[in-house]
Amino acid sequence: MRKIIVVIKHIVHKVLLLKLVSRVLFLNFGGTKKFNLNSGNGNPSTMFLIHIFQYLNYHDRLVASAVCKKWLNATNCRFLLSDINCTVPRSPEARTILFRMTRRFHNFSFSSAVICNLALEFLKQFKDQFISLQFQNCYVDSQLYMRHGNRVSICENLQKLTVCNSSAFLLIMSFPNLVDLNIQLNTLTEGQIRHLNHASPKLKKLVINAKVTCFPAFKNFIARCSDTLKVLDIIETCLLPNAVIELSQIQDLKLEKMIVDPSLPVEQITDVFRNQRHLTSLDLSDLRDPSTVTDEIVRIICHNLRDLEDLILSYAENIDKSIVEICQLGKLRKLNLSFCSKISLSSFCKAFDHMKLSKLEYLNLGCTLIADEPLVKLLIQNKNINYLDLKFTCISDTILKLIWKNLTKLTHLKIPYCSKLSDSGLIEEIEYNAAIGKAGINDDAMNVDKEMKDNEASKHNNAGVCASLSNLKNLRVLDISRNSNFTWIGCLKSIKFQHLEKLYLKECQQLKSDSPFLNQLREQNPSLEEVEFLEVVAMEDDEMEEADQLFPQHFGLVRNYQ
Ligand SMILES: *[C@@H]1O[C@H](CO)[C@@H](O)[C@H](O)[C@H]1NC(C)=O
Ligand SMILES: *[C@@H]1O[C@H](CO)[C@@H](O)[C@H](O)[C@H]1NC(C)=O
Ligand SMILES: *[C@@H]1O[C@H](CO)[C@@H](O)[C@H](O)[C@H]1NC(C)=O
Ligand SMILES: *[C@@H]1O[C@H](CO)[C@@H](O)[C@H](O)[C@H]1NC(C)=O
Ligand SMILES: *[C@@H]1O[C@H](CO)[C@@H](O)[C@H](O)[C@H]1NC(C)=O
Ligand SMILES: *[C@@H]1O[C@H](CO)[C@@H](O)[C@H](O)[C@H]1NC(C)=O
Ligand SMILES: *[C@@H]1O[C@H](CO)[C@@H](O)[C@H](O)[C@H]1NC(C)=O
Repeated sequence: MRKIIVVIKHIVHKVLLLKLVSRVLFLNFGGTKKFNLNSGNGNPSTMFLIHIFQYLNYHDRLVASAVCKKWLNATNCRFLLSDINCTVPRSPEARTILFRMTRRFHNFSFSSAVICNLALEFLKQFKDQFISLQFQNCYVDSQLYMRHGNRVSICENLQKLTVCNSSAFLLIMSFPNLVDLNIQLNTLTEGQIRHLNHASPKLKKLVINAKVTCFPAFKNFIARCSDTLKVLDIIETCLLPNAVIELSQIQDLKLEKMIVDPSLPVEQITDVFRNQRHLTSLDLSDLRDPSTVTDEIVRIICHNLRDLEDLILSYAENIDKSIVEICQLGKLRKLNLSFCSKISLSSFCKAFDHMKLSKLEYLNLGCTLIADEPLVKLLIQNKNINYLDLKFTCISDTILKLIWKNLTKLTHLKIPYCSKLSDSGLIEEIEYNAAIGKAGINDDAMNVDKEMKDNEASKHNNAGVCASLSNLKNLRVLDISRNSNFTWIGCLKSIKFQHLEKLYLKECQQLKSDSPFLNQLREQNPSLEEVEFLEVVAMEDDEMEEADQLFPQHFGLVRNYQ
């Protein structure tokens, strides 16, 4: 028996070694990571193993750790264990095994377990090891509360505590280095808040998903963390508007993100934001009625929150002229104005004439009245955009060309329902002089030349085509659904991406899913996981129907989808 185990171990050893060597070689030739023997003060051979093991996934890493003591020791460091979550199961037998745990895992989750003496002993024994701890639907044996001294004294290293429908956190007396606390309970009582007060003055992120029954204690708790707290989510606390405003007035509280109950009246929410001028992220799309957001409110927001990086105003269908103020927020990286259907073309023009936006990475102007002329300015000044959604707008082929020529960082492009688009936006025919092997007209001879070679290499070579949408080398997701003028010719010439994962061609009248071209499409997009045609009901379909109802009157479009 022993012999067999030894043999198996030997085989595992060999297989893993092979796997390791091939991965390390591959990665090092790829030049992605540098190996540095001096990156620690352990002994060199252990450091070497640690370096190699980082290329394994956690499963292989665990297998590797069973090979020998040396390998076990090497995998037993924080760096290599950080991506493992240990879920403590329900059965008591399984839990007794935990006590013999020699590995220094540090993320533990107790799920639907009874927290009895045994679990408490475990917590006590390994308390210094925990970095992240979760109690989910854990019932605490009431006897435990009875006996005093029956608590875990202090979890020195605990950074993240998630409590979901369990009062088990009361068993831990102190967690002085906690930065991230997430509480989901029916109610958060005064006693529980007071317990938290004993614990953690360094919180950075606090999510409370529980009815707060004692506001003064809660306010006190927030005030205590005010120096460090940056993210506060009190969406489900049932606090009255005045209480929320009172929280926002706490001295020294400088939040970057605050999520409040969306059913609060927008005026009160605006007051909150007046008090918290360091917010970097604001989402008003969750409001019960986003149409109550007016130009005046947006002006107040833009005037007070100069540091905003994320602004989400989807469905604010009553704003128009305040787009000018939005475009003065020079730090914006993410802007979502989808369904802001009242922003007029002239307001867009005015706003983009003197804008300070230049750092945008995410832009959603879907279902707005945006058109070519102002959009050109915005796109040219924001070349770092990687996510662009222009669904249901009347952009033309000119914009599409500008996109694939200039926004080379794009990973997501969504342009369904843009009825003015056609094949000529996907490709640019450039005359090709075969004798010289150079493009006739060229603004970038090198690129064009390379493009030609790519084309020659591909088996569906077409000498006339030089540049196309496929210029977007990083594209992962492309949605050109519901555009009736795209044809297979245009698509096959332009949809050639090394990394494209999702492609949506739903309800494009000229593209039929049973077409033999589909295979070719898959061939020239080797990473495709998903191609969607017609029938499939996608999440966005509701949105599309909504757009359908909203927009015909604006665009005067007559569309005819079956
Ligand atoms: C065990 O691993 C640690 C690093 O995690 C290293 O410092 C130590 O030298 C190793 N011990 C042995 C015997 O390899
Ligand atoms: C373990 O916890 C740390 C600290 O909260 C966290 O950064 C890490 O992502 C966690 N690992 C997993 C697998 O969740
Ligand atoms: C690990 O557990 C935490 C909760 O403690 C959870 O947020 C995270 O997503 C889990 N990570 C993985 C990789 O399962
Ligand atoms: C909370 O936990 C108890 C058991 O401890 C369970 O009966 C109850 O269904 C849980 N509630 C929710 C909302 O998960
Ligand atoms: C932008 O708004 C749309 C419409 O509400 C929504 O579907 C989308 O998820 C939002 N995107 C982001 C990143 O907020
Ligand atoms: C956009 O890209 C084209 C083609 O690469 C280039 O000629 C043009 O100058 C670019 N426009 C801007 C504003 O950079
Ligand atoms: C799109 O197709 C329709 C007819 O199917 C045609 O009338 C229209 O001119 C086309 N648009 C473009 C931009 O080619």
